[in-house]
Amino acid sequence: MPRTYEENPFTPTFGITPPLLVGRDAEIAAVRRSLTRGPGDPARAVLLTGARGTGKTVLLNALEDAASQQGWAVISETVQPGLVEVLTRTTLPMLRAALDPRATDSTLTSASATVFGIGGALTRQVSERHPAEPSLRDGLESLARIQADRGSGVFISLDEVHRHEIAQITPLFHAIQHCFRQGLPVAFVAAGLPSTVSRLLSDSVVTYLRRAERFALGTLPDALVRAALREPILRAGRSISPDALDRAADAVHGYPFLIQVVGFELWEVDPGTAHIGADAVDVALVRAVKTANRLVHEPALADLSDADRRFLAAMARIPGEPVRLADILERLGATRDHVNKYRARLIAAEIIEPAGRGLIRFAIPFLSEYLRSLGTEAAGSEDG
Ligand SMILES: Nc1ncnc2c1ncn2[C@@H]1O[C@H](COP(=O)(O)OP(=O)(O)OP(=O)(O)O)[C@@H](O)[C@H]1O
Ligand SMILES: [Mg+2]
Repeated sequence: MPRTYEENPFTPTFGITPPLLVGRDAEIAAVRRSLTRGPGDPARAVLLTGARGTGKTVLLNALEDAASQQGWAVISETVQPGLVEVLTRTTLPMLRAALDPRATDSTLTSASATVFGIGGALTRQVSERHPAEPSLRDGLESLARIQADRGSGVFISLDEVHRHEIAQITPLFHAIQHCFRQGLPVAFVAAGLPSTVSRLLSDSVVTYLRRAERFALGTLPDALVRAALREPILRAGRSISPDALDRAADAVHGYPFLIQVVGFELWEVDPGTAHIGADAVDVALVRAVKTANRLVHEPALADLSDADRRFLAAMARIPGEPVRLADILERLGATRDHVNKYRARLIAAEIIEPAGRGLIRFAIPFLSEYLRSLGTEAAGSEDG
């Protein structure tokens, strides 16, 4: 009689912490150290870069957990319009109210008189003594001073740093710079796609960003991919043959998101059996490709025009990466203006990225393969 095992442990969803986060120990240790070492430590400001699905968000989450375990107040935000306003008016006042022993007498201001403390654990009446809204800079500084007195600090994590919204968060960068200069306990980690972060650096007026520690998330080594597939399966009470593990790990090509997709599909082939054998791998991989296409590639292309797609299809057919714009121009039989226009559009859409003068590359792992498979299907159906 088939027994049921625990639920599928894998997490083929963006932003969801995997059952085993592999290959990030050094980054987590560096940030942990920086919190205890003091304001001069380079890892007090970190820029995390990586293509889609390489694990930026889940690493940010792990770093936030580490900071929180060390008693730091954590501010976790995604860059979006109005962020500075939210920080200034809500997040910082709430944290100050929750953490300042003298909160009711402090310079807190809030739209409402009641501020809910962290986790709803404490609710505190805050008198509106200073109705003028403190600036973000002052707000962050006073929170950092409260935390300094308590022997900890303020950890700020910023996800999805996109260039067109950078102007929006400039006040935050300045506020952090101000605190760094005051020697206050503030740490900062921002995550984004490689191209957006490098443009952020070249445009940046705040010098600490240029000196920031860089964590570039790329592909994971095979041994770690194997561990990330194997351990969760064993922990959940099943086993996997060495052969199945080899083939599944090969198919992942080191891409963190695919670990979860392949693991998930391997588990699902025959969830009633204790052992996952090599015969499950073929079925799982076919499904994994479909799942990855549905979750990554189809959404990435969904809003593009036909001309965008033609540009990408041409690009995918040119062997090797980076791809020369001149080759795309030739293949499309298009004008230079046309190619430049679509280059700019697709960079803005984060589908491709600049890779040096006259060169571009895909910003999404396996997108090129996906586009070629579409071409083949289309060609196949025309033939048939
Ligand atoms: N080191 C890792 N070990 C195992 N699984 C991982 C690892 N890093 C990420 N994953 C898994 O990969 C998937 C994508 O991770 P995440 O959402 O953090 O990517 P991202 O870089 O933030 O993507 P995006 O650019 O789309 O925001 C998640 O399912 C996550 O659990
Ligand atoms: Mg993310």
